[in-house]
Amino acid sequence: MEEERIIASEVSDPEDVALDVTLRPKRLVEYIGQTRVKQNLEIFMAAAKKRNEPLEHVLLYGPPGLGKTTLAGVIANEMGVNIKVTSGPAIERAGDVAAILTNLEEGDILFIDEIHRLQKTVEEVLYPAMEDYSLDLIVGKGPSARVLKLDLPRFTLIGATTRISLLSSPLRDRFGAIYPLSFYEEDEISNIIARSSRILSIQVENRANTIIAQRSRRTPRIANRLLKRVRDYADVKADGTVTEDVAHAALDMLEVDALGLDMVDRKILIAIIEKFGGGPVGLGTLAASTSEEEATIEDIYEPYLMQLGFLERTPRGRMTTDRAHEHLGISLDSPSNLFES
Ligand SMILES: Nc1ncnc2c1ncn2[C@@H]1O[C@H](COP(=O)(O)OP(=O)(O)OP(=O)(O)O)[C@@H](O)[C@H]1O
Ligand SMILES: [Mg+2]
Repeated sequence: MEEERIIASEVSDPEDVALDVTLRPKRLVEYIGQTRVKQNLEIFMAAAKKRNEPLEHVLLYGPPGLGKTTLAGVIANEMGVNIKVTSGPAIERAGDVAAILTNLEEGDILFIDEIHRLQKTVEEVLYPAMEDYSLDLIVGKGPSARVLKLDLPRFTLIGATTRISLLSSPLRDRFGAIYPLSFYEEDEISNIIARSSRILSIQVENRANTIIAQRSRRTPRIANRLLKRVRDYADVKADGTVTEDVAHAALDMLEVDALGLDMVDRKILIAIIEKFGGGPVGLGTLAASTSEEEATIEDIYEPYLMQLGFLERTPRGRMTTDRAHEHLGISLDSPSNLFES
């Protein structure tokens, strides 16, 4: 079953991909929020430029949709270099990565998305490449095998991951800078919505902007997507202007609540409360009882639920908090009957 997930922060339909590209900031000044990361990055880039060296390798991590890919593109623009984009799962063999590396030009950025999903053999090619721009090729077999060292152009690897804990430490240690992207402040999301509505020529009243921002899970990609859905509603049901009423009606119809939770978030929380007495419950059990994938729960839903203080990860499993119970209007003593309905 392919139900549409308004909240899911990965990009799926082609229209959203196109939208993602149009709305993607190109320069650091257009990149809203993440102030600390931007400040650090500015110095990091200025220093490399001053020394006339390529940027050291950069690792970006954080939940989906917060702007890792966008930031990699911004870095390439600011450094005035080319960016080649690939991803962990796309590089299958050591030979693939060797081919990519030897095709780079001096100063190029190689962007590897989902870098935690690299094969071990591929990672091993990357170590000397990252460390001293050298490619170690093994030529021949058995006793006559020898290592041939090839020089590579000096390049910058930018890695992105939603799961830094899955990165091996030899790989992690080879990055000169590691930047965590965090959930945005609500006013930053408002700015992103204002910027996007300017680009897309959508009239959004201030109060409507706030309502959309509050329900965007502090995530730019979701803010842009909700804006688009609200615009659809405004075009069909009203005169195209996104007013407060339109925003409310559209978002209610999408079943996104005042804090940005959708039915899957509610399903997860309610399962923990009703089936496991508020937890702790292990991820596998939770996945089975909600029919969601473990990785989906872990990467997409949990980070924001934890940010809200609705969910805790303990060594024994996931637990809901009083705040979650309050928001859902359920108490542990008298659970609702949502699961029977
Ligand atoms: N700081 C920002 N300012 C303005 N818009 C942003 C910002 N960050 C992200 N966006 C918008 O959000 C969209 C999603 O960002 P992006 O694709 O870079 O996220 P991501 O972190 O790479 O996600 P994933 O982990 O799923 O790959 C972009 O198309 C862009 O329009
Ligand atoms: Mg990305």
